[in-house]
Amino acid sequence: MSSLSLKAPAKVNLYLEITGNRPDGYHDLVMVLQSINLSDRIDIRITGTDQIHVHCDHPEVPTDHTNLVHKAAKLLQNLYPDFGGVEIFITKNIPVGAGLAGGSSDAAAVLVGIDRLWNLGLTQGELQELAAQLGSDVPFCIGGGTVLAVGRGEVLSPLPPLENLALVICKPRNLGISTAWAYNTFRAQGLLATKTPHSHSSQILAAIASRDESSHHQIARLLYNDLERVVLPTYPQIAELKKQLQAQESLGVLMSGSGSTVFAIARNLESAQRIADSINQDQQDKPDQIDVWVTSSAINGIQDWN
Ligand code: C5P
Repeated sequence: MSSLSLKAPAKVNLYLEITGNRPDGYHDLVMVLQSINLSDRIDIRITGTDQIHVHCDHPEVPTDHTNLVHKAAKLLQNLYPDFGGVEIFITKNIPVGAGLAGGSSDAAAVLVGIDRLWNLGLTQGELQELAAQLGSDVPFCIGGGTVLAVGRGEVLSPLPPLENLALVICKPRNLGISTAWAYNTFRAQGLLATKTPHSHSSQILAAIASRDESSHHQIARLLYNDLERVVLPTYPQIAELKKQLQAQESLGVLMSGSGSTVFAIARNLESAQRIADSINQDQQDKPDQIDVWVTSSAINGIQDWN
């Protein structure tokens, strides 16, 4: 095998609680991460040279050594120098700077893909350890599904998979938010000290475990993201988008990660489509374009494209 094509799904955070400042500058987190059926395509080809080449169809994505995909390939090349180089093509469907882990999932796909192309035989645990060197969300993106993530976000425990969770994903087209900015501002404003002292992660975990008919309703009521406390006051258009989605037939609405994406959980895909139509209708006279997707939860991480 000299080439392969992989699907790299996006994620949303159903829950993101900041529980501590770490001495390494990062934050201790309790997160519930959920893969969704919105994916980039990653094509990887073995080349006859030692070079790593990255191409992307999205003009805002750098293709040099600063791209996480390039770093993922370099990490494996440094560990296994005898296998030469690779050429990687990224076809972007996941919006950039969106809080949907698009770049992290692309990097996870490169680890999985090169492991297969070079027949390295790395286990999922070994791939996740390498992934943690690239970014906090990359280990999750390898296996995907519904996962509890703690530590920096790299300590993972699988949860019962949430199937057929209907979602509306909304992203202000011209607004990307830096994850580092969001966490640094949270720390600078001392927001950890002013939090409600009791965590409610146990409630959303119980709702996910219950798997009965009302669990999607319960999960939607328990959505939570600490980063909203810094992002919503700074970017009123995101707060406005959240209100717009709440005014619809949504079961629950939350910003994903550090934004700028806001998502709604809907009763079913028909309801999600009505919400999406309404958001599209509402913005006809407004200058700031919002991109809208109707999608659902996915039970896997990186997979073959077909
Ligand atoms: O790990 P990653 O490179 O994706 O993180 C991007 C930025 O987000 C970090 O530089 C850090 O500022 C912030 N971050 C954090 N605590 C975490 C994860 C990320 O402060 N647990």
